[in-house]
Amino acid sequence: MEVVKLLVVLALFVLSLHFITKIVKLRKNPKLNLPPGTSGWPIVGETFEFLRNSPEGTPSRFVEERMNKYDSRVFKTSLLGYHMAVFCGPAGNKFLFSNENKNVQVWWPSSVRKLIRQSLVNKVGDEAKLTKRLLLSFLNADALRNFLPKMDSIAQHHIRTHWEGKMQVHVYTIIQLYTFELACCLFLSFGNSSQVANLSSLFDVFLKGIFALSINFPGTRFHRAMKAADAIKKEIKMLLKKKKVDLEENRISPTKDLLSHLLVTSDTNGRFLTETEISDNILLLLFAGHDTSRSVLSSVMKYLGQLPEVYERVLKEQLEISQGKEEAELLHWEDVQKMKYTWNVVSEVMRLSPPVRGAYREAIKDFTYADYNIPKGWKLQWSTNASHKDPTLFSNPGNFDPSRFEGEGPTPFSYVPFGGGPRMCLGQEFARLEILVFMHNIVKSFKWDLVIPDEKFKYDPMLEPEKGLPIQLQPSHF
Ligand code: HEM
Repeated sequence: MEVVKLLVVLALFVLSLHFITKIVKLRKNPKLNLPPGTSGWPIVGETFEFLRNSPEGTPSRFVEERMNKYDSRVFKTSLLGYHMAVFCGPAGNKFLFSNENKNVQVWWPSSVRKLIRQSLVNKVGDEAKLTKRLLLSFLNADALRNFLPKMDSIAQHHIRTHWEGKMQVHVYTIIQLYTFELACCLFLSFGNSSQVANLSSLFDVFLKGIFALSINFPGTRFHRAMKAADAIKKEIKMLLKKKKVDLEENRISPTKDLLSHLLVTSDTNGRFLTETEISDNILLLLFAGHDTSRSVLSSVMKYLGQLPEVYERVLKEQLEISQGKEEAELLHWEDVQKMKYTWNVVSEVMRLSPPVRGAYREAIKDFTYADYNIPKGWKLQWSTNASHKDPTLFSNPGNFDPSRFEGEGPTPFSYVPFGGGPRMCLGQEFARLEILVFMHNIVKSFKWDLVIPDEKFKYDPMLEPEKGLPIQLQPSHF
């Protein structure tokens, strides 16, 4: 324990030095016209205020208060020991999304970068472009369309196993079994539930440390996450070796899953990913797609439970799709294209309750934005809530109105649940399909009531229900 304390003190000392050096550097240049705002407390800055939960249905209070107090375009703060400028509204989003590799580059906290070192998150410039294109060759709409029947059968099996026969379920807990199993099947072809359960328990430990202070010594969350990440990567590498043999002997098809796809596909320069790059990228995809889709599906279940007229319209659309099919015929690509109202509902859910608060960039040179100087090295943040709840962009922003997404939809850069520009989410088509397939099956199987009608949702780090969203199920038989 003494060693642990000593190391914590040492880490805090190093952090203080780092912080003081930065302040001294900035003071040396008083001519800079920095964005208005405050750096808060030494080292921790305004981290605690930022992490404090916003009440459900309101804009992110942290961002909104500072936009009103300082400048609605950009303000400065200090989070996680870093100087940070928060860019607000569509203009701020547009600037950050369209300046990748010019003035800014993607940035993730060091815990994320260390846990998945050889993945896309640690790549910038041309290298990032090549890796992203390679991963997208499996995750784009054209490639994923062939997996739809498989997704549908996984959703049906999940509902039969975990929902049917139950009076009450906790949505947030149970939905992760679906999203995780789906990802394990499509990425790794995991066929049995014990393999999924083993990976899932390691993955829980990994997730707890991914946004922790990246101090790697026994007893810390980050240390446990490093060990779990190593165990997951080892498992993926073992699988990879087996798949290599199966591919060589033509026992499986290269389109069977993401792992096989990455083994046989090179980037546009003809380079294949190394085994470590493959396992790190698969871990990244499991992480990036895990709590995001789970959060959206939980919010969808909440809104459908609260708004019976919206539930009825979704059900009607889904029944029309089923009526055009043979009994027990699985969903196909064309069916999902007909789910227009259902997707507008999901889009409105993501406007009101975006699963991700925003993301980070880093200034790679000194530049000026909105007449303020942004020094090289500063971390920059964009925010989903700042524009999603703005009444000048969305009339009556608190109202649930899926028709906002009809026709041309929202103004560019105002609706950004998946980010934007070259670092935009690469799993959005995957997420769209897994969400729609689940909704198709769940509305046909059940109606439900919320056990806690006004249950709060909080960001930790994704949006999640405080009590796990318990619901009372009433089976329907369509
Ligand atoms: C509804 C579900 C999802 C939401 C709302 C979401 C949202 C986001 C956001 C906001 C970003 C940051 C974009 C930026 O910085 O501009 C991101 C990045 C990313 N997402 Fe998603 N995501 C979702 C599902 C998924 C899924 C299912 C996967 C994987 C299959 C995935 C993989 C990724 C990856 C790899 C990145 C990093 C992209 C890069 O750095 O270039 N996401 N996502």
